[in-house]
Amino acid sequence: MINKRRKFLKTACAPVAFSMFGISLIEACSKEDNSTITNNLNNQNNSSGSTSDNSVTIDLENSMFTSLNNVGGWINYSTENMLLLRITSTEIRAFSNVCPHQGSQNSWSYNNSKFRCASHGRSFEDSCSGGLTCYTATLQGSTLTVTR
Ligand code: FES
Repeated sequence: MINKRRKFLKTACAPVAFSMFGISLIEACSKEDNSTITNNLNNQNNSSGSTSDNSVTIDLENSMFTSLNNVGGWINYSTENMLLLRITSTEIRAFSNVCPHQGSQNSWSYNNSKFRCASHGRSFEDSCSGGLTCYTATLQGSTLTVTR
């Protein structure tokens, strides 16, 4: 019985829950309110790029991406949880920065075509079949679009 009450209070909207205790609030109960917040969070802009629901557009002329100017250059773009790697003059590859082993995101290094996570020493090839989650990355001029 107590568990049922707890479950109800967790899932009921605040005005309904408060009304059970004699407190009235005038507020609509709607799931749409939450989705609007989520959508707004997913569409935040920042100085280096913009994000929509599942794609990120990056302006490579922004100084934080200077390391991607040369083949072999890479960056842990932690704002978007991605590793970006310049493969050729016309290709940048994008991976999730979440280590497949135990989820570390900020212990990466890159050498000899492999990303290495220092948390436990695992290495992953820089190909899309190398173990890291690979995203679709499209380079047009100095604009990189990554679709997750
Ligand atoms: S979390 Fe990366 S090697 Fe363990």
